[in-house]
Amino acid sequence: MAVGIFDSGLGGLTVLDAVTKRLPDVPFVYFGDNAHAPYGVRDADDVYALTTAAVERMFGAGCDLVILACNTASAAALRRMQESWIPHDKRVLGVFVPLIEALTERSWGDNSPPREVEVKHVALFATPATVASRAFQRELAFRAIGVDVEAQACGGVVDAIEDGDMILAEALVRSHVDALKRKMPDPQAAILGCTHYPIMHDAFQVALGEDVSVYSQANLVAESLADYLERHPKMVGAGTESKFLTTGDVRKVSDRATQFLRRQITFEAA
Ligand code: DGL
Repeated sequence: MAVGIFDSGLGGLTVLDAVTKRLPDVPFVYFGDNAHAPYGVRDADDVYALTTAAVERMFGAGCDLVILACNTASAAALRRMQESWIPHDKRVLGVFVPLIEALTERSWGDNSPPREVEVKHVALFATPATVASRAFQRELAFRAIGVDVEAQACGGVVDAIEDGDMILAEALVRSHVDALKRKMPDPQAAILGCTHYPIMHDAFQVALGEDVSVYSQANLVAESLADYLERHPKMVGAGTESKFLTTGDVRKVSDRATQFLRRQITFEAA
C-alpha cells in the first residue's frame, strides 16, 4: 500500500509531513522533480510533460493514488491529465479544492451553488504559472460570490528555497507582500497557493500583520486525503514501502529535506 505525493521540488514536503502525521500507517512515496524546479516559470505543455513523467514513475512504485502537492502542476496539468491520460484504475488529485472549501466554509465535496461567504478580500500568493492559469479564481467562483481576489506572482521564492537561501526567500516574501498591499491594502485572508510557501509561513504572517488569516494547504490536504481513503480504501496501492525519490542531486536534496522536516530524510534517485 502506498500513496504518492508529488512536487516539483521540496515544497510538497510540507504536505508529506502533514499526511504522515494524519495517516501514520499509510506508506508514502514522495517524488521531488528537483532537477526541473521551478515549474512556476514553465509553460503548461512543459509542466504537463514533466508531471505525467513523474506520476508514471510513482504508478511504477506501487501507487494507485497520487496527490499533486504542487499548485503549479494542479493548475497547469491536472485537468488535461484527468481528461485523457490517467488510467481507469488510478487516481490523481490536486491540492486546490480542499483549501477553497475551507475558505468558503464548505465541507468536503459540497457542490451546492455558489453563495456569499464571510471573507470578502483575499490575497493569493502563488507562482507565476499558477497566477496566470487563474485556476484558483475559477474554483472559487464555483463556490462563492462577491469575493475580491488579488493575486501576487511570487517570482524567485521557490528558487531561493530550493537553493537553501532563506535570507533571500524572506526578503522576496516581504517585497511580494508589499506589492500585494499596494493593490489590496487590507486583505482579510491570505492564501499560500504554493506548497513551498508554508516553509516561509512566519515571514508571510509578519509581513501581512497579525489580523490576516494565513491559509496553507498541508493540514487541509491531510484531512481531505484521510476522508478520501476512508471512502475509497482500495486506492491505497500495492507499494508497501515509504520512500523519497528525486531527479535532483540526492545528497543536496536529502540535506535540505532533513533541514526542513527536522528529521533524517534520505532521498534516492528517481
Ligand atoms: N510547490 C510548487 C507549487 O505548489 C512550486 C512550483 C514551482 O516549482 O515553481 O506551486
